Amino acid sequence: MKKYLILGGVLLAACNPAAETVAPAAPAAEAPAETAPADASDTEAAFKTLTGSSPIIIAHRGASGLYPEHTLKAYQVAIDQGADFIEPDLVMTRDGVLIANHDGYLSDTTDIADHEEFADRKSVRQTPLGDKEDWWSDDFTLAELKTLNAIQRVEGRPQDYNDQFRIATFDEIIDLVEENAAQGRKVGLHIEAKWPSNFSAAGLDMVDPILNTIEERGLVEAGFPIFIQCFEPDFLAKVAAKSDLPLVQNLVGPPYAALLGLDMKLEDIPTPGVGAHKAMILTPEGGTTDFVERAHALGKLVHVYTVRDDDPAEGFETAEQELTVLIEAGVDGIWTDYPETAVTVRKKFD
Ligand code: G3P
Ligand code: CA
Repeated sequence: MKKYLILGGVLLAACNPAAETVAPAAPAAEAPAETAPADASDTEAAFKTLTGSSPIIIAHRGASGLYPEHTLKAYQVAIDQGADFIEPDLVMTRDGVLIANHDGYLSDTTDIADHEEFADRKSVRQTPLGDKEDWWSDDFTLAELKTLNAIQRVEGRPQDYNDQFRIATFDEIIDLVEENAAQGRKVGLHIEAKWPSNFSAAGLDMVDPILNTIEERGLVEAGFPIFIQCFEPDFLAKVAAKSDLPLVQNLVGPPYAALLGLDMKLEDIPTPGVGAHKAMILTPEGGTTDFVERAHALGKLVHVYTVRDDDPAEGFETAEQELTVLIEAGVDGIWTDYPETAVTVRKKFD
């Protein structure tokens, strides 16, 4: 299966970020309390995480290995499978509504190419990785985007659910987690702002809408664990100036790190967590680097992306093997398209 990496709305070929770009350094800070799952107290000795608690399982775009990503169905299945967090990637509509979509563009995850009424809205944008022609979320109102059907982006995954679900708004996702919490299954939100500089350039700042929604919905007061993550350091700095929510700086390795302004040294990253590409932690021989150890020495949480049953990392025959090595390495969180597998592997450490 084709390996892929998508950053800031841009689809990349598989990359192999080297841990060596992130140098060792200095003393530790406190980890945010939100990282510990509520039932972790009896598992502390089993894990080499920063807190000793079990690593969180983050449903990457929902149970996206099974259902079209970022749909309410994909999120619900992930919750049913025992994920600790669901992960909405957020972009904005022209009328300023936060919606879940992996990219600023729409052709990979919706049937917009089949909508003749939108054919003339296809346009070329400059992205951090070059020009791209597509349909862009902030060229459409929410009402227009709600006419689109979600589709499975990955060849080889179930296509049976295409055209059954719509794009979800951030508010609808919050409704879903509240409904589940009311039924005794409380999950957290691991929220990624996608390509916020693109939206702010269009007059659509993402900082206040995200923070205001979290506040207005009373999510912190209600005890929902929350992380905010981004590939853009400037966005995270703006959030940090307005909020105490735990932040995660997403990272990539070379050659994309320099291109995206992400060739940062670990000790220079101000956020309490880092989102590491798994090739920063795993070696092609099936071993591990010292990335987790160095991050933990700095007091930083390490969340790793992305484990896929249908696409194990180089050096591993199965996702189960990969997950086992990641957990043994002490990662604090794992993004996966298949949360059920990760939950099952984690149970072996209990
Ligand atoms: O957000 C971190 C993780 O989800 C990997 O990034 O490109 O799949 O959103 P991406
Ligand atoms: Ca993401």
